[in-house]
Amino acid sequence: MDPMHEIARQAIEQTPPAIRVTPEQASVIAAHADELLALGPEIVQAFYDTLYGHEPTEAVFGEGERPMREQTLVDWWTRTVRGPIDDNYWSWMAMVGLIHVIRRVTNPMMLAMAEFVADFVAANQGRLGLPPEEAHQVAEAFRRVAGMTGSVITWGYDHAVSSALFEVAGMPEALLARLRDAEIEEALVGARQEVGN
Ligand code: HEM
Repeated sequence: MDPMHEIARQAIEQTPPAIRVTPEQASVIAAHADELLALGPEIVQAFYDTLYGHEPTEAVFGEGERPMREQTLVDWWTRTVRGPIDDNYWSWMAMVGLIHVIRRVTNPMMLAMAEFVADFVAANQGRLGLPPEEAHQVAEAFRRVAGMTGSVITWGYDHAVSSALFEVAGMPEALLARLRDAEIEEALVGARQEVGN
């Protein structure tokens, strides 16, 4: 299996089925692609206003990069709402995660912005021109997509970091994991004292 497909599969398998994107939810999104696409320009604007409005996230971007980044988000939005949200979609998200690692986009930044998109859709569900129950289903489906995007991307991030360490240190991943656990156990002693718990 291709590595990106494998990373996405592992991430999805770790999440309880009850909170994955169901085929019905994927269909609900695709069935309302036109209404969702109409929200695209506003989401993209708000997304980058938020990132450029905060120093640590703004610092990720190079001079004059914003128009290019806006276009990549438009492409992501279009592909997401048109579907299909399938194995290929999740393997693409795994790759997008790796692309972000190289640019020093951290997991807290990614998770916060996945949440941002879900919140935006929920807050604007009344403007989709759908009956309230249907609009609510669309917003709920998007929340699942955002959650699973976070799972796939953070797993891809961990995987990228540990396999890079493996390449550099030349140590089997299982040994690295044991050494990591031993270090963390030691750090936890100090952490417990600090937190008082
Ligand atoms: C839900 C969250 C996010 C999604 C869905 C997303 C999506 C994407 C996509 C689809 C690409 C294009 C990848 C490609 O070339 O195929 C991209 C690139 C990029 N994104 Fe994001 N992004 C997210 C969050 C962020 C955040 C939080 C930042 C910065 C703080 C960021 C900064 C960038 C940068 C700098 C690139 C260009 C990478 C490169 O090619 O050098 N993204 N993003």
